[in-house]
Amino acid sequence: MNQNQLKELVAREALKHVVEDKVVGVGSGSTVNCFIDALATIKGRIEGAVAASEASAERLKKHGIRVFDLNSVDELPVYIDGADEITEHLHMIKGGGGALTREKIIAAVARKFVCICDASKLVPVLGEFPLPVEVIPMARGHVGRELARMGGYPELRQNFKTDNGNLILDCHGLTLLDPAKTEAELNNIAGVVTNGIFARRPADLLLLGKADGSVAVMTEK
Ligand code: 5RP
Repeated sequence: MNQNQLKELVAREALKHVVEDKVVGVGSGSTVNCFIDALATIKGRIEGAVAASEASAERLKKHGIRVFDLNSVDELPVYIDGADEITEHLHMIKGGGGALTREKIIAAVARKFVCICDASKLVPVLGEFPLPVEVIPMARGHVGRELARMGGYPELRQNFKTDNGNLILDCHGLTLLDPAKTEAELNNIAGVVTNGIFARRPADLLLLGKADGSVAVMTEK
């Protein structure tokens, strides 16, 4: 199976975790786009969705799925999202699409986080994928210098603004052997909105599409 077929496979598999008559949390990215398309096939069985990006919200609405503001939702049994990298501890790097802040907020609210990925995303240690850091525009220089002080090589994502009106610094070269610690350290830099390490609130379940067409269901090791 090719990568696209694997994305579709895990997206269909994720439907099993959607709770009937409830609102489902929906992340963003190409794997999540497959999930949204799959979700449309059972749209009569859910109340609606909350979306981690404007793009996901648009796609949901095009399918006729009601999109709720997170503030109007009391209960979110499950959140489905992809990742740029994930370890067997279900720690992730996210934010390749720039939606990391809203993704982290919805993940914090959800009772269960189901991550859907093709096998290429499973890594022994996080950090090969440049770490996205969402930054308030006036703090770009300061945050860049702080990241460099920590041993990173930040690069401004060109011609890009997040849904929150901020910038992204993609940081290469950080050692992420203790991702929960680094996640907190980075979030303490003045001007950082959030960073793409998801270790303090990892996924609860990983559905990993493998080349042979099977789906490995993994919980934290
Ligand atoms: C967007 C994300 C995505 O989940 C991540 O980039 C994976 O995307 P894709 O499914 O396209 O590989 O964090 O901010």
